[in-house]
Amino acid sequence: MASLLDLTSQGDVATITDDAYLNRTLQLMEPQQLYELWERQQWQSQAIDLERDKEQWAELSEEDKEEHLWGLSSFFVGEERVTTQFSGLVMAYEDEQEEAFLTTQQVDEARHMQFFDRWFREVAGIDGGIQERLAASRSDVTDAFVELFDERLVKMGERLIADPSDMDAKVAFITNYHMVIEGTLALTGQHFMLDYYETNDLLPGFAEGFANIARDEHRHVAYGTWFLQQKCAEDGYRECVQETLNDLLPLAAGVLVPKGYAIGDDYEFFGYTSQQQAEFAYSALSRRLKVIGVGLPTASAA
Ligand SMILES: [Fe+2]
Ligand SMILES: [Fe+2]
Repeated sequence: MASLLDLTSQGDVATITDDAYLNRTLQLMEPQQLYELWERQQWQSQAIDLERDKEQWAELSEEDKEEHLWGLSSFFVGEERVTTQFSGLVMAYEDEQEEAFLTTQQVDEARHMQFFDRWFREVAGIDGGIQERLAASRSDVTDAFVELFDERLVKMGERLIADPSDMDAKVAFITNYHMVIEGTLALTGQHFMLDYYETNDLLPGFAEGFANIARDEHRHVAYGTWFLQQKCAEDGYRECVQETLNDLLPLAAGVLVPKGYAIGDDYEFFGYTSQQQAEFAYSALSRRLKVIGVGLPTASAA
């Protein structure tokens, strides 16, 4: 019988192609297996060759540069947020295997942030330290981004730090972090941006690092799906997942809307329509929720 790793990318059920597998009895990869997968998938953010990126960047018009930076900035700042707001979840581990996996995820997020920082320094040429580069990138993020990452995520992390044994706080945090931020937002943007850069043979160093990041993100989301499937088999947690999604998905829908547009408008994101982007996000989230055993709140919210 095929293993989940044969059927999916990194155990993430959103990449499953046969809908017959998508139900609550699907046996997911456990933290120990995901930890071992991490050990086999190391990469170095400082070693990726960025020379062609520098050459190509120098040839781009100022307008093109601004468009690329707009898309990349949300990811750079997002990686900083998910790195520095993760400790509460590590504190909330329930056994040694889960603790081991969670520490790998925290290192991954730091590596992602480091990769973006290096790219913004060496290719985009933004001087100073990481804080200066993050501050420059912050001028590109939307109000919805600020509310989701600086307010909701931070508060949910603080709630977990105040009491790591608060299971409602852990379920809400993972619903936001793994289902909304990583699963619905990051992996959707990564899918279209990677396709764009690879198809156009543009910024190959960035694309190599970003593909490694996407591989890590699928592994992270696989953990979040496993955790929520376990908890939603018990009474009381399905409502918590549902309420958190109801609350946050409308906000998430506004995170990648370009300046001058509103949610529901038609616009293009790296050569794809906002409709294609929304459909991809919706289908990925609904596949994961089927396996977790929770209904999708509303189709329009994704
Ligand atoms: Fe990340
Ligand atoms: Fe992640």
